[in-house]
Amino acid sequence: MSALWDQDPDEFWTREGRARVDWFTPFHTLREWDPPYAKWYLGGRLNACYNCVDRHVEAGHGERVAYHWEGEPVGDRLALTYAELQRRVVRFTNTLKKLGVGRGTNVAIYLGMVPELPIAMLACARLGAPHTVVFGGFSADALASRIDDMGCQVLVTQDEAWRRGRTVPLKAVADKAMAAAPGVRRCVVVRRTDGPVSMTPGRDVWYHEASAHVDEDPANCPCEPLDAEALLFLMYTSGTTAKPKGIVHTTAGYLVGVATTHRYVFDLQPDTVYWCAADIGWITGHSYIVYGPLCNGVTSVLYEGTPDFPDRDRWWDIVERHGVTVLYTAPTAIRTHMKWGPEFAARHDLSSIRLLGSVGEPINPEAWSWYRTHIGAGRAPVVDTWWQTETGMIMISPLPGSGTLKPGSVGRPFVGVEAATLDSQGRPVANGQLVLDRPWPAMLRGIHGDPQRYVDTYWSKYPGHYLTGDGARIDEDGDFWLLGRLDDVMNVSGHRISTIEVESALVDDRSVAEAAVCARPDPRTGQAIVAYVTLKGGREGSPDAVDELRQHVADKIGKLAVPANIVFTPELPKTRSGKIMRRLLRDIASEGSLGDTTTLADPSVVEEIRARAAASV
Ligand code: WTA
Repeated sequence: MSALWDQDPDEFWTREGRARVDWFTPFHTLREWDPPYAKWYLGGRLNACYNCVDRHVEAGHGERVAYHWEGEPVGDRLALTYAELQRRVVRFTNTLKKLGVGRGTNVAIYLGMVPELPIAMLACARLGAPHTVVFGGFSADALASRIDDMGCQVLVTQDEAWRRGRTVPLKAVADKAMAAAPGVRRCVVVRRTDGPVSMTPGRDVWYHEASAHVDEDPANCPCEPLDAEALLFLMYTSGTTAKPKGIVHTTAGYLVGVATTHRYVFDLQPDTVYWCAADIGWITGHSYIVYGPLCNGVTSVLYEGTPDFPDRDRWWDIVERHGVTVLYTAPTAIRTHMKWGPEFAARHDLSSIRLLGSVGEPINPEAWSWYRTHIGAGRAPVVDTWWQTETGMIMISPLPGSGTLKPGSVGRPFVGVEAATLDSQGRPVANGQLVLDRPWPAMLRGIHGDPQRYVDTYWSKYPGHYLTGDGARIDEDGDFWLLGRLDDVMNVSGHRISTIEVESALVDDRSVAEAAVCARPDPRTGQAIVAYVTLKGGREGSPDAVDELRQHVADKIGKLAVPANIVFTPELPKTRSGKIMRRLLRDIASEGSLGDTTTLADPSVVEEIRARAAASV
């Protein structure tokens, strides 16, 4: 496979652009690079939904399964063929049309892992209506701010989602969000648990009612021919300020980028049964559950539930029943299985597995080896893939069959990707800031509504280089080793969370005077959130205050951002100029060495905080 790396990138992406997708009008120019903005496949017209659904049916593959959907309740399952997927997408599209959605109408989607999630995304793509999918774990406030920022007029949600046998009230959260984001005209509600919901007449409609008599014939519902650079979706992600960024992804470059990397990194074969066990609410799910695999016409597994419901062998039961050949998941999930022990996997025949993938955070060599030994029978290659919401597609990864795999290394940059590590002066060094030097098809096209922030965040530290925010080391063979974030972004269970966003949520609580947030290492979740909080009026903390603050963060952002530890302190350590010394707090949280404290205004604060931190864990 090394021949792949030796190719000329422009020839490679020209060929892949023709091979991976079908065009209504062929592109005439591969790309235009006007730093920091790239355009790809100029002049081309295409439709992502057509490429993911219709063309496979037209080519005679309608009976092939697109998704083996597994609901959380055992036995609640569905085999969705490409032909059935097409019928359902057309039905969803026509329903959205009835509600006034057309080209350029922005749609927010707040659904769990039900078949209607990819179906709704594809229906939007069919119409040229950009979508933003908001992960079901986000709060009403977080949903409202995304709806508002994108100017979404329509929201698709469901009554409730299943979670470990209990229900999560998505529609009730959506109601709160819509109260705060009044731009939503219509809300489509998918019925899942049949739990109680309140419907606002004139605004809310049940999907099963609104779609009851709509046409399912694709001939009457053609895919809109869209410009290569038409907005496909926004995916919001945490940055180093309190406000999440709407990362812009457009149609052609994104689709070619994800389909191409999916094909080569996962070594697709005609009998591939592929399972990416992420949530579609994150970029991994967009690129490698929906757009990449469907564009490649692959059979995938789509699973609604958690790995431990009803028992800890649920994943392995699914792998065995569907004969999964490729499994793609995150280190945090692998470490969780590791903690439970290999006996749950050992109950099942996993001999179908031939390739394993990892994404989202650095994978420690122990987890890598456990994954390969207990899930991959000691022989399946493990590909550790590095990429980001912003890159859209896998950027650095080993290719299966391309040589020895090193546990803990993400291998080499994909074809046409130029990655380097720089010191603070911008000089190439073996160990430094990871930057990307050459535009790639699925790269972000900016931050929605904030061009200045796009330049400041990614292009100002090293002009001409895209700043990833990660640290990395390149070894003597040219293989990359990721060292974690170098900015104020934390990575908890593979979820990106900004320290400042959590601090703002804490300070928003009426009892809080000041807060500083950092991450400490955690054996299972990679990192865990630690918050140092000073209460107003010199009040002392209490277990009730901890509960109140945790609830407040859950309400402002979502449960995923709730601190694992809250340390109350009468003062935060500050420099003489009044800046909070976060590095020092991080050291205390990690129980590492304290570093230099000579610039502290009041060094006694540190001992006090240390004692309190030790008592809080
Ligand atoms: C981290 C997820 C080490 C990294 C696709 C990056 C990784 C951030 C890896 C992006 C990996 C992702 N090894 N670290 N294989 N993959 N990361 O936007 O810090 O949710 O910048 O995209 O996750 O997270 P995001």
